[in-house]
Amino acid sequence: MKVVRTIADLETAPATGLVPTMGALHDGHRALFRAARAENDRVVASLFVNPAQFDQQADLAAYPRDEARDLELAEAEGVDVVFAPDELYPPGFATWVVPEETGAEGEARPGHFRGVATVCLKLFNIVRPERAYFGQKDAQQVGVIRRLVRDLNVPVEIRVVPTVRDPDGLALSSRNRRLSPEERERALGLPRALASAVGQPDPVAAARASLNGLEPDYVEVLDLGDAKVLAAAVRVGATRLIDNVPLEGEIR
Ligand code: PAJ
Repeated sequence: MKVVRTIADLETAPATGLVPTMGALHDGHRALFRAARAENDRVVASLFVNPAQFDQQADLAAYPRDEARDLELAEAEGVDVVFAPDELYPPGFATWVVPEETGAEGEARPGHFRGVATVCLKLFNIVRPERAYFGQKDAQQVGVIRRLVRDLNVPVEIRVVPTVRDPDGLALSSRNRRLSPEERERALGLPRALASAVGQPDPVAAARASLNGLEPDYVEVLDLGDAKVLAAAVRVGATRLIDNVPLEGEIR
């Protein structure tokens, strides 16, 4: 496995699958690597904690980083190249992709999707993958990236991988490692509330009613074109968690 630190050193090749990540890798990322490995001759994983998508400086500073472990995990999953640039926004950087994303994360985290869309378009242009892999865990992000690719005619196929959860139902997230044992127990209220709301006449109200005292930033039905999901964000102590469950259709 090659580790590449600069854009100049990164080679492009046909039949490449790209998995964009911010590191602190876990079994959710691993599922993306496996999907990419199965469908491409070459797999590139990017590892970059993208400052542009953090609306809170404290959140960026506290974001978990463990590159040595990330490289081991990527290598074990057959990743060919890890692209881990120190910087993607050189001095003078002034051009942004601004998705007109309203609701849910778009509203709760102003500027977040601008940062996500901009860094993903940069990565698509740098790596030139045939396919790029994203997790259903961040369903609204998938919607933003699909629209970006369609609206700006980016020649990449977007592939979506189902959410990987711990056996008790908590969706894997790099942020989970910040939870104390007591907070982790409370955090289970999020997947439980979402799961219990599926099939109810008013899933938003049903989820809100069963959040067990967790304060939601939002509980919303997101329309992703092919699919509708019930999505929510909650705060557990200082940690913000998001999750969603499919209501109808399939995120493809
Ligand atoms: P990050 O949070 O590191 O996630 C990288 C990819 O892994 C995303 O596509 C995310 O949806 C997926 N993922 C995370 N947890 C998952 C889980 N439990 N099951 C399945 N997939 C999961 O998302 C980002 O980074 C950034 O916004 C990025 C796209 C890299 C742009 O900076």
